[in-house]
Amino acid sequence: MHHLPKQIAAVTAALALAAAAASCGSSSSSSSNASSSGGGAVPQVDVTKFTADYAVMKTLQSLAAQGKGKIGVLLPDTTTSTRYVQYDAPNLTKAFEAAGLSSSDFKITNAQGSVSTMQQQAEADITDGASVLLIDPIDTGSGAAIEKNAEAKGLKVIDYDRLVLGGPADRYYVSFNNVQVGKLIGQGEISCINAWGVKNPNILIMDGDPTDNNAKLFAQGYNSVLDPKFADGTYKKVGEPTGTWDPPTAQTLFEQQYTAHPNINAVVTPNDSNAAAVIAALKNKKIPPKTFPTTGQDAGLEGLQNILAGYQCGTVYKPYYLEAQAAAALALYLRAGQTPPSTLVNSTTKDSTIGADVKSVYTPPTWVTVDNMNDTVVKDGKVTGDVTVKQLCSGGLQSACSAAGIQ
Ligand code: BGC
Repeated sequence: MHHLPKQIAAVTAALALAAAAASCGSSSSSSSNASSSGGGAVPQVDVTKFTADYAVMKTLQSLAAQGKGKIGVLLPDTTTSTRYVQYDAPNLTKAFEAAGLSSSDFKITNAQGSVSTMQQQAEADITDGASVLLIDPIDTGSGAAIEKNAEAKGLKVIDYDRLVLGGPADRYYVSFNNVQVGKLIGQGEISCINAWGVKNPNILIMDGDPTDNNAKLFAQGYNSVLDPKFADGTYKKVGEPTGTWDPPTAQTLFEQQYTAHPNINAVVTPNDSNAAAVIAALKNKKIPPKTFPTTGQDAGLEGLQNILAGYQCGTVYKPYYLEAQAAAALALYLRAGQTPPSTLVNSTTKDSTIGADVKSVYTPPTWVTVDNMNDTVVKDGKVTGDVTVKQLCSGGLQSACSAAGIQ
């Protein structure tokens, strides 16, 4: 499919559409929610063309008009990262609305960390006539159960950000290259150790929750960068205890490890909220800024402020407007009974549970420090409204912001 000329791709898409329409027509069950309708050329979006002003989504208005049924979005929680409230929900909303959907055409819910709540929200979406579900699961097992149930009822499913191991083989996945995210964290830690002149680095590795497939990929990425340093004795790895995405648990874990190994002078953690928990412990211990490297991910407000304050080296910024548009575009193709184009679906991801490749869309992540914060998160925030300079530079950070050229 990837290398087919456009005309053949269009014919294939038309056949797929006809087949989908036929199967819809032959189904007498009211539970078959996926639908399609014909008419007009199918717009082809290119994953490399998404911008912070959502212009590409506007080219999908005819596709959106062809589709039927609601798009349900299931987000996991509000405590493991600020991203779900600060970025994902508003950016997905903007992406759907730019394509011309009204608020009754999609529903974004957050399960607040409860698997049963997410299951109920999925059921409610199905009852409400959803034809597509986007799911960022709390854990991969409960995610697979939700997806199988949705698929059995005729919905199309998309894994959002976290791969749902064991989901239906014909689903789609949208994310960042999460091993690459981990590598950026490992490389960021090394640069920071050098920049802050940390002697004899004794590093505690604090992973994310092992039930999140992403956490494994992040660890794979940063360990691949750091292992050679541990192996040649440049750095010492103090330990890598079982991971968590729960910041209070991360804080307790750090404190226990620090008491047991007072020589710890650097932490690798793949998330700003866990980093903030470690930083709170560092501040309690009166450890001065720019002496104890920590890392993070998500470019949450707290993470950005900890970077400006010299407690966090950097954060992986995953431009959410890219991920949200990719996800919304995928959803609009599926909702209209169309095959998403290969200019959008730029990769595949192995699902080891089902032993198959899942069609995927990856968008690129960036490592953000004080040096490029203004040109990345802040610049984008001026367009998307997600991060305002006023919020960022509050709480005594005005001079740090000025030094970083943020105004
Ligand atoms: C996401 C991260 C997030 C973490 C905790 C991961 O799956 O990719 O962005 O920080 O979950 O919510």
